[in-house]
Amino acid sequence: MALKTQIANFHFDNCLMNGSGIYCSERESLAKIDQSAAGTFITKTATLEKRLGNPKPRYFKFQIGSINSFGLPNLGIDYYLDALADFQAKNPEKTYFLSVAEMSAEKIYQVLKIVQASDFPGLIELNLSCPNIAGKGQLAYDFDSTDRLLGEIFTWFNKPLGIKLPPYFDPSHFDQMAEIINKYPLVFVNAINSIGNGLVIQGQKTAIKPQHGLGGLGGSIAKPTALANVHAWFTRLRPDIAIIGTGGVSSGQDAFEHILCGASMVQVATALGHQGPDIFARISQKLESIMADYGYHDISDFRGKLQYR
Ligand code: DOR
Repeated sequence: MALKTQIANFHFDNCLMNGSGIYCSERESLAKIDQSAAGTFITKTATLEKRLGNPKPRYFKFQIGSINSFGLPNLGIDYYLDALADFQAKNPEKTYFLSVAEMSAEKIYQVLKIVQASDFPGLIELNLSCPNIAGKGQLAYDFDSTDRLLGEIFTWFNKPLGIKLPPYFDPSHFDQMAEIINKYPLVFVNAINSIGNGLVIQGQKTAIKPQHGLGGLGGSIAKPTALANVHAWFTRLRPDIAIIGTGGVSSGQDAFEHILCGASMVQVATALGHQGPDIFARISQKLESIMADYGYHDISDFRGKLQYR
């Protein structure tokens, strides 16, 4: 069980899983991840009501990455809670992730109150970093609002909660955000969401339609930023806050690097979308062989042990 891992008291046989948004919008896709080598799955970010998302084309793949502006299309919180209850009934020992978001603090409280009142026993990821909603900034770039939001949530929310963060690019921002995160009983942070508001051009036109072509960048180009963010959180956050590493993972080496930077769990997003759920078995096998080459038996043997030149 070389790839087994843990977040708070929740155990996983494999540290790999999907990133929210990929293969997780409806039951059929979730079932494919559930049956793959992945340790678990996370749902598409759920909002109070069903959303159709942004106009198409809203996704484009290029040589070294992807750009998306889906705009949180999803089937609504009730759908995902029902689906999770069914998966849970079939796999009582497995821990699943539910992703949620909303467009205002009041609505975030509402969606979390629905989750709190439900029987969902797994981990909840609050997405504070969707870059693709016109007129709404990424909440986690507003430090004071994030602090107020978490302060309010933790006066009543008592299920295991983590947050999905956008990439940060300056040490002072990591310092400020770490100070906020460390005040709250969060069980994980997930770094990173896509790199927001990139622009990809095809011929003379934007590759995607929403917001004059702006969208979140993922895939290989995101990896160096993702690794820097994972390492920044690993070195700044309380040791009981697990880090989920997301960004640019398509190989065993990519997953190895995320864990070296401090990730306890590694999510695969863009590459999963292109290669399908068999990618988990391929990455697992390669990761295990890299670990064997270094003489590591368990991911805790090298997690966070990045060496500096
Ligand atoms: O890149 C992203 N796209 N990140 C999110 O959090 C949401 C998603 C979307 O639906 O636009």
